[in-house]
Amino acid sequence: MSTATPLDSRSTIELFDDYVIPNYRRYPVSLVRGEGSRVWDAEGREYLDLFPGWGCNILGYSPPAVVKAIQEQAAELIHVPNTWYVEQQGRFAEFLCTRSFGKAFFCNSGAEANEAALKLARLHGSANGKFRTITFEKGFHGRTFGALSATAQPKYHEGLGPLMAGFRYAALNNLDGVANLIDDETCAIMIEPVQGEGGVQIPDPEFLQGLRNLCDENEMLLIFDEVQTGMGRTGEWFGYQHSGVQPDVITLAKGLAGGVACGAMITKSEYAGDLRPGMHASTFGGNSLAMAAGLATGETIEREGLLQYVKDNAAYVRERLEAATESLSIVNDLRICGMMIGIELSIPSTPAVAKAMERGVLVNSTQDTVVRLLPAINITREELDQGLDVVIEVLKEMADEA
Ligand SMILES: Cc1ncc(COP(=O)(O)O)c(C=O)c1O
Repeated sequence: MSTATPLDSRSTIELFDDYVIPNYRRYPVSLVRGEGSRVWDAEGREYLDLFPGWGCNILGYSPPAVVKAIQEQAAELIHVPNTWYVEQQGRFAEFLCTRSFGKAFFCNSGAEANEAALKLARLHGSANGKFRTITFEKGFHGRTFGALSATAQPKYHEGLGPLMAGFRYAALNNLDGVANLIDDETCAIMIEPVQGEGGVQIPDPEFLQGLRNLCDENEMLLIFDEVQTGMGRTGEWFGYQHSGVQPDVITLAKGLAGGVACGAMITKSEYAGDLRPGMHASTFGGNSLAMAAGLATGETIEREGLLQYVKDNAAYVRERLEAATESLSIVNDLRICGMMIGIELSIPSTPAVAKAMERGVLVNSTQDTVVRLLPAINITREELDQGLDVVIEVLKEMADEA
C-alpha cells in the first residue's frame, strides 16, 4: 500500500493532464473504493453503479471471494511463463470447458481473445486457401488491428486505414445477405450472441441457426464473441446457450475473472490442434493470479446460484421498465437479455448519463440513442429497484424536456 497522502479528484486529474495520454473521455471524478454495486469517489461521494467496470466487474467491486483468491495466490505465485504447467490454468480451463465445450487458450483482453479466434479460423482454413471472415454491422470486437477490422463500424476506423484485409460486413438478421457474401475464401463467421456496444441488439435465434447451417455447408467456423455475454451475464454461462446454437469457437474476457484482466478463447477439441506450438502466444496469458481470480469468480457464480438469479432479475427489470415506459413516447424499444439492458430512445441518450450521475447512479449511453445497463449479476433487488427508480425518473424528465 502506498504511504502517500490520498489525492483529491482535482489533483489526480492534474496528474492525468500532465502525464496520461488523453485517449479517453473521462468523468471529472477519481474513484477510490468500491464494494459490490457501490463505488466512492475521492471526495467520499457514493454512487450506485449499474455499469460497473463496463461489464468487467460482473460480481461488483472487489468481490470478497475474488479478493481472497488473489491475495492467497499472490503470496504463492503471481506469474510463470507458458513454458511451464501451472495448476490454476488447468483448473480454470476445466471449469470453463466443462460448462461449454472443447479446450481453452488464455490471454488478457477481449481484443486478444478475438485475435486468437481469427488466427485459429485462418489456420484452419489455410489448407483450402480460406482466410476471409464475415462480421456484422454494429458489432464490436476490440481495438487491435484484427479485431478492429472485424468491427463493422466506420467511426472506429477513421484515420487508421488501411485496415487488415479479409473481412466482409453483413447486416444482422439478414441470412440471404450473409449467404451472398460467402465465397471459396471465407473461413469463418463471427458474431456476438447479443451485440453489447451495438446497443443490446439480440439476433433472432433462427438467424443464428441459419449461420450455423451456412458454416456447416461451407466448411467455415462459427465464432461467437462472448466477451460481454459470457460468464453468466445473460443468465446462462454463455450467451450461445440461450439459442441452443453451438458455435465452434467462443471468446471471453470482461467479467471472466471478476475484474482482473483475463481473456480466453475456447474451441472445439477437434480444432484446438490448428493453433500449433509457436503459432500463437501471450506472455501474461493464463497467469496464476488471473486464473485464481477466474476460478473464484466462476465458483461464486455457481455457489450463489447467480444464473437463476440473473434470469429472475431480468424478468423483474422487464416488468418494471415496460410498465414505467409504456406511456413514454421517447422510449422506442426495450431489449433485455439477463443483466444486459438496452433502452432505445427516439432522442439522444447521452444526457441520461449526467442526469443519473447527478442522482448518484451510473449508467452508460451507446450508439447515440441507447441507455445501456450492465449491472453486477449479484446486485441486490433493493439496489436494482433504487437504480431503476432513478433511470425511470431521468427518462421521464427527458420526455418532459423533449
Ligand atoms: C463483444 C466485445 N468484444 C470485444 C471487446 C474488446 O474487449 P477488450 O476491450 O477487453 O479488448 C469488447 C469490449 O467492449 C466487447 O464488448
